[in-house]
Parts: sequence; structure tokens; C-alpha cells
Amino acid sequence: MQEWRQIMHKRDPPLGIVLANIALLQLPLVPAVERCGLVPPFGVRRRPTYAVLRGTAGDFTYSTNFAASGGPARPVKVWNSDDKFTTPFSLEVQQQWFQRYKIRLWFYESPVYNPNGRLVQSLPKLANISASLYTVWAGYQDYFFSLYDKKITVGQTLKIVPDVVKAIEEHIEKMLAVVEYTPPGFPSMLMPPAKEILIQNQLPLGCVPAMLTLYGGSKAKYDEYGCLSSLNKISEAHNTLLGLKVEELRKKYPDAKLYYGDVYAVYTDILKEPAKYNVTAPLKACCGVGGDYNFNKDVWCGQSGTVEGKFVNLSTF
Ligand SMILES: *[C@@H]1O[C@H](CO)[C@@H](O)[C@H](O)[C@H]1NC(C)=O
Ligand SMILES: *[C@@H]1O[C@H](CO)[C@@H](O)[C@H](O)[C@H]1NC(C)=O
Ligand SMILES: *[C@@H]1O[C@H](CO)[C@@H](O)[C@H](O)[C@H]1NC(C)=O
Repeated sequence: MQEWRQIMHKRDPPLGIVLANIALLQLPLVPAVERCGLVPPFGVRRRPTYAVLRGTAGDFTYSTNFAASGGPARPVKVWNSDDKFTTPFSLEVQQQWFQRYKIRLWFYESPVYNPNGRLVQSLPKLANISASLYTVWAGYQDYFFSLYDKKITVGQTLKIVPDVVKAIEEHIEKMLAVVEYTPPGFPSMLMPPAKEILIQNQLPLGCVPAMLTLYGGSKAKYDEYGCLSSLNKISEAHNTLLGLKVEELRKKYPDAKLYYGDVYAVYTDILKEPAKYNVTAPLKACCGVGGDYNFNKDVWCGQSGTVEGKFVNLSTF
């Protein structure tokens, strides 16, 4: 964790590209952190430009985002069979965006397709691809939404861990791969790969307010921090396997710098000493309504609706 913090501080502002699955309650992480009144971490730009979804005219000074709200690690055709919530933007699709993005960078640098830089774009150079720090944070949706919709049981969720980690591992390998590309009318060329990736693990799923609300109760087993042990086991299994895969990838790609970001440890540290982080109720949603965990399925943060006969408006958070 220390190593991770140092890396992030070393880069202020970070020059990398976010390639991840934004996890927490379908909201991009940094705005979620802001909602809770915490300091945005690492000097990261608040809303990184979406390289693909928002075209190419954005400001890439701070970073680029290939993440998609609710995007699962596993391909959508697998994941959607378990869930009600759907999105087409799995890691597989985000990977295609990344590869496509490189081609776009090449295009704007091409003296043939863009002579004298006629089409002006504030894009990084193709060479910057290998000089950027990337972060991959994926898998949360695969676990969260299946459980949230009670499509599969906790035991069944534990069994999907190897598939979820495999999808992440394959994704990382594709980022590290030197891909051959043949531009129309040009000889084949090698596209630069990512060389520095921060891979983040799963937070303790059993501490998430929505999970505590849906899976808690007199029969549930809680750990010392009041989190659900059975759900934390899913995160732990994921993290153990992901850690092994990162070690294997380090051996296989000795020239790449692969960091393991221990989100679970940071989260646990907050539960251990909430005051140190100015957190008053670590198991309660900072924006929500009702119950022991300030969470209700009917009105999420950012929505309005009726809870226990009362109108609630959470859209201003
Ligand atoms: C991007 O690449 C250009 C040209 O190689 C270089 O001058 C610049 O410093 C790089 N910027 C970043 C953010 O790596
Ligand atoms: C906690 O809040 C106090 C008072 O607002 C502030 O001085 C301090 O920097 C905060 N600490 C953290 C870790 O955010
Ligand atoms: C909720 O509050 C916001 C801000 O005051 C307002 O714009 C919005 O119309 C409200 N929503 C409803 C359904 O009343």
C-alpha cells in the first residue's frame, strides 16, 4: 500500500490513463469521494475525459478515461445472464476502445492523413502510450449486481471469482501486448503497449452499505468491524487470486511495471481508525436514506422518490 501511495504522489498530476471499471454504486470514484466530503485523492482530475465516448476534442492534461459506469470484467454475454442491470461496456469493449484510441493518435500524427497537423486535436502523442500510468480496477460489478439483484447466491458468487480474475488478467495482457497494425495504404507497424499499470483489488464487499442492508440480519455472521464475513470472503478470494496473477505477469513481462493497489487494506484501515480519516460512520452510505446503513433500494444517491411514505430528494448531492 505504501508503494502504491508513493507512486500516485509521484505523479501530480498523474499523466496516465484510467482504464478501469468504476465501481462504487455506479458513480465515478472521485465524485463519490467528493460527495462524502473527503479530499479527492492523488490530485486526480475530477472528471477525466472519456477518450472514446466524448470524442477527441477534450483536455487530456490529467488523464483519459476508458472506464464505463457499471462495466463488468467478464464479457457482457456472460455477465448479463446473472444480472438485471445491464451495460454493453465490459472490459472487452474497453480494451477495444484502448486499441482504437492508439489508432486515432496515429491518425492525427500521420503526415498523410493529417498533413501539417491540419486537424487540430489536443491529444497525447502515440509515444505517450508507453509513458503513461494506467490503472485497472475491475470486477466489482460482476459480484455486486448479481448479489444486489439476488440472481445468484453468495456461494455461487464465490465460484465466479476465477472467471472474473481471468477476464482482468487477459485484459492486462492485451494492454501489455505489442499489437501489429496496418494502416490503409501503409506498411504494417507496431503499436506501443502500456508499460506501467496499477492493478487495484476489491474492497471488502461485506462492508458495502447496500450489501449490509440486503444480506444482514440475525442469521448473518459479522466480523469485528460489523461487515458481513461471507461476502468479504468473495473479495478475499478475488484478491488472493489477483495477487498471484500479478506476480505471474511480473515474471512474464519483466520490462513492465505492475503495481498491486491494495484497496481492501485501505478500506480496512478506515474501518479500524475512522477518525483518522474524518469518517464518522464507516458502514453508512454518506448519501442515501433509511435503515441502519443509510441505504434504501428504492432511492439511490442522486435519485428522488418515496421511502416509507415520505418523499426524499437525493438529487442534489
Ligand atoms: C508525450 O510525448 C511527447 C513527445 O514524445 C513528449 O515531449 C511529452 O513529454 C510526452 N508527454 C507525456 C505526458 O508523457
Ligand atoms: C479532518 O478534518 C479536520 C477539520 O476539518 C481537518 O483539519 C483535517 O485536515 C481533516 N483530516 C483529513 C485526513 O482529512
Ligand atoms: C430535487 O431537488 C432538486 C434541487 O433542488 C430539484 O432540481 C429537483 O427538481 C428535485 N426533484 C424533485 C423530483 O422534486
